Formats: sequence, structure tokens, C-alpha cells
Amino acid sequence: MTAAIEVQGVEKRFGSFVALAGISLTIQQGEFFALLGPNGAGKTTLISALAGLTRASSGTLGVMGHDVVTDYQAARRSLGIVPQEIVFDPFFSVRETLRFQAGYFGVARGRTLDDWIDELLAKLSLSDKADHNMRQLSGGMKRRVLVAQALVHRPPVIVLDEPTAGVDVELRQTLWAFIRELNGKGHTILLTTHYLEEAQQLCSRIAMMKMGRIVAMDTTDHLLNAFSERVLRVKIDGELPLSQVAVRTRQQGAWHHFTIHDLAEVETRLAGLREAGARITNMEVAEPDLEEVFLNVMHR
Ligand SMILES: Nc1ncnc2c1ncn2[C@@H]1O[C@H](COP(=O)(O)OP(=O)(O)O)[C@@H](O)[C@H]1O
Ligand SMILES: [Mg+2]
Repeated sequence: MTAAIEVQGVEKRFGSFVALAGISLTIQQGEFFALLGPNGAGKTTLISALAGLTRASSGTLGVMGHDVVTDYQAARRSLGIVPQEIVFDPFFSVRETLRFQAGYFGVARGRTLDDWIDELLAKLSLSDKADHNMRQLSGGMKRRVLVAQALVHRPPVIVLDEPTAGVDVELRQTLWAFIRELNGKGHTILLTTHYLEEAQQLCSRIAMMKMGRIVAMDTTDHLLNAFSERVLRVKIDGELPLSQVAVRTRQQGAWHHFTIHDLAEVETRLAGLREAGARITNMEVAEPDLEEVFLNVMHR
């Protein structure tokens, strides 16, 4: 099957500054993929190159088998991009903005398009704003219009560059429910976000970028297992017995952390603590999380 996104050896220089230092990446159709990395890692630059907004200094990029340079129109039409920066014509209404965007991609006006626009507005809780001018909308609403705009020509591949920045929790959930639904229907999703718990919940595969390079790329589960540990946290009344200090991985006030490799080890560890005379007043088991993976990968 043709890959949804195929990036090979992409470099991007701005003068002498290297923003992308050789990126290769294949995303299959139907994947929900996250691209993570600190500010300045090159995520938006890579997305701009995919969208044909900036030209790679070397390497190739393709969307649904269409090269973004030699087959620009087809590549661009296969792609719906929710950009990081909000830019709009403030004098258009929401509906006009969406119709205009559809026209740009050669989608015919008429009933089918209007129904789809209504559906998009409903899914994004924007129905009552359809005839408002863009400048009358809040930041979060504008961002949701950007999402609708990216989807109006029904692209098979959807790229979201920090779509939830400045969007409140409830709307974030509405947005993710909708994006999940689209993914369920076969759309490929590429997402960048600073909310790592979002990536952990939504994405099946993750690439982490640092200074223009991919420094880790694997399934979410593999990354969690490789770079994060399950930790037993125990709150002790008084001092931790010396025999237990030796096996402790960390202390935070009255809380003592023990790395555990499987759940059976929780029982052995608790029994050991009790035998040593520790008075346990509280405990919890913390699952591996992507935040820890991210920090470990970035500081490696
Ligand atoms: N047009 C440009 N001219 C010069 N430098 C740029 C330009 N666009 C991006 N950069 C630089 O490239 C690096 C990567 O930026 P960007 O792709 O926006 O990172 P990210 O989206 O991961 O935060 C940054 O150091 C940024 O300053
Ligand atoms: Mg960015």
C-alpha cells in the first residue's frame, strides 16, 4: 500500500542554520502518529515542507505517493493542515472562509459541500458561529475553524500542528473525539502537541525530534516500556529502615520510590518493608508515562 507520508533524507537550512538535519520517516495509511519535540526542534518546518510552503534544501517528501515538489497539486490536495499560527481574513464569516477554502481545492459549490460544512461546524461546536465574522471569534474558536478549514476538502491525510494550544479542556475532548472518528474511517493523522498525555492516549506511534533530527521513533507501547518504569510509591511514618534505603530509587519527603518490573514485585516489596518494621501510611503504583520517556530521550 502507498505510504500516507514518506519523508526521505530531508534537510532544511536557513542560511547557515540547520533546521532539519536529515529526516527520514514513513507513515502508513490509517496511522495516528505523533511528532514530538521541544520548541525549535523542527516540527513546523517539516510540516511546512510537506505542505509545500517551504522547500527542503535536500531530500524528498511525498503524500499518498505524490511528490510535494514535482506533483504539488495532488500532494497538497491529499493533505489537510491545521497550522500552528492562526491567520485569517477577518472580514469573512466562518461559512465563507470554509467555502473559499473548498473552492481553492476545486471542490464544487452546492448541497454536498454545504452539508459537509454544516457537519464540520456541528462536530466542532461552531454551528451558532457560522455567520459570525472571523474577527468576532475567540482564539479557541478560531483554532477550531482552522480544523474545519483543513478538513473541508476531505483529505485522506490530516496534519495538526499543536491544535490544542489555547483550547479549553472540554473542546479539546470534542476535537479529539472527532479526530479519532476520522482516524477510524481511515484518515491518517499526524499530530504535534505539547500535551504528552494526549499523544500517549491517542497515538499508536511516536517520533521524537531534537535539533532537526529524529532521536527516537517507535510504537507508543515500546517507547513507554523502554524509557519509563513502573514505580511503587510508599509513604512511611518515620524513618525508612536502613535495609530498605539500599533498594530505594528516590525519596520525596515522606514518599519513597521503588522501581518495580512487574506487579508481583509490589507484594514482595511491601512484605519486605513490613518485615523491616516500616509503618506504611499510603501507597500507589505509578504507570510509565510519556513525559518521563520524553525527558529521558531528550537528556540522553
Ligand atoms: N523562516 C525561518 N528562517 C530562519 N529560521 C527559521 C525559520 N523558520 C524556522 N526557523 C528556525 O528553525 C528551527 C525550527 O523551528 P520550528 O520548525 O518552528 O520548530 P518547532 O515547530 O519544532 O518548534 C528554529 O530554530 C527556528 O528558529
Ligand atoms: Mg512548531
